[in-house]
Amino acid sequence: MDAEQLRECGHKMVDFIADYYKTIETIPVLSQVEVAHLLNFIFFSFFFTLVVAECAILCFTDVSLSHFLVFCLIADVKAKILPGVTHWQSPNYFAYYPSNSSIAGFLGEMLSAGVNIVGFSWITSPAATELEMIVLDWLGKMLKLPEDFLSSGNHLDVRLGSNSCDKVLQRIWYYVLGQGGGVIQGTASEAVLVVLLAARDKVLGRVGKNSLEKLVVYASDQTHSALQKACQKNGIWFHVDAAYAGSACICPEYRHYLDGVEEADSFNMNAHKWLLTNFDCSALWVKVRVFPVSISLKLWMVLRLYGLENLQCYIRNHINLAKYFEGLVAGDSRFEVVSPRIFSLVCFRLLPPDDNEDVGNKLNHDLLDAVNSSGRAFISHTVLSGKYILRFAIGAPLTEERHVAAAWKILQDEASALIGVP
Ligand SMILES: Cc1ncc(COP(=O)(O)O)c(C=O)c1O
Repeated sequence: MDAEQLRECGHKMVDFIADYYKTIETIPVLSQVEVAHLLNFIFFSFFFTLVVAECAILCFTDVSLSHFLVFCLIADVKAKILPGVTHWQSPNYFAYYPSNSSIAGFLGEMLSAGVNIVGFSWITSPAATELEMIVLDWLGKMLKLPEDFLSSGNHLDVRLGSNSCDKVLQRIWYYVLGQGGGVIQGTASEAVLVVLLAARDKVLGRVGKNSLEKLVVYASDQTHSALQKACQKNGIWFHVDAAYAGSACICPEYRHYLDGVEEADSFNMNAHKWLLTNFDCSALWVKVRVFPVSISLKLWMVLRLYGLENLQCYIRNHINLAKYFEGLVAGDSRFEVVSPRIFSLVCFRLLPPDDNEDVGNKLNHDLLDAVNSSGRAFISHTVLSGKYILRFAIGAPLTEERHVAAAWKILQDEASALIGVP
């Protein structure tokens, strides 16, 4: 494909995506297809596509050929792919956790793909590696992370490595910039894996490689300060995972949830969850940095094009919508809010009739099914102390109060169908 074909096809694709956003509200938010929906399609359309492509090559010039093929491709996307998509960008999406894109994130991804930036070491794309350090310092400052976590931090402890080009540069950076810094990982789970490996190496370096089987990982579903103290006392690696809630801490009124992070060895949050940067982009900061890999353009675009104040407004708006939803739930005597809401997630359920938890669990399961199969809203669930709980997570960029109100109306109507009106 040459530059003119790219221009032609790229405009068509952007038009298609812009139109998608115009109609997204009317599309069933949870995909309604049966298993193997696409596999069945692909089997028959493979031969058809080959025949069409052969004919087109005979009939069209280069530009009109690519135009025609993009036209066929977009028709296929509309007919076959979109019905099998669950629309995380939909304003009616309230399931699991937010994981959203934005115009800025999308443009950054486009730039990165178009220029084909491969940054697995400094020399493969110097600007990409350095941009990652700069951008994660910006984000680290927005989160008011301690200096130790920043590339521009003030530790001057030089670590010697091998004499490859990257290792030399790494040493120069350590000297000039300090040891700490951020690296972008694919997911929070990857970030946790990376720090586990780093922690393992650090401890084995101290106690000897033969002690591998004696190593233990402590984790808690409700992290407690005892864990932090134990880590400090015994020189254990202490990691803080703020995959979802980390974004909220760019607002001064929520920053106190990160108090104590200065005691940690590493910290991560997902810009691809609640900070308008499309998947994948999990930011991991360490006090002793591993060498960067670089996929930071989209995060750079997000921080540059929105800026701190707009991002703070974005977070606060979702939290206010969650407060509003929480109030709606509290006002209906058939429901209860199950755990205190802090950010934009509300955990709630239909109260079990006659305190019968088994019946209550089934009821809430049926309510979830009824809402999700309507295609008009998508929520998810969890199990807390044996109780089936509904989760309403607000975080899609297009969600407004009217979408929250509409979702609540669906929940109320389906609840009435199951147990009657209050
Ligand atoms: C605290 C926490 N850690 C980890 C994860 C998993 O994130 P990822 O899918 O990026 O691995 C989540 C997802 O919601 C989370 O909330």
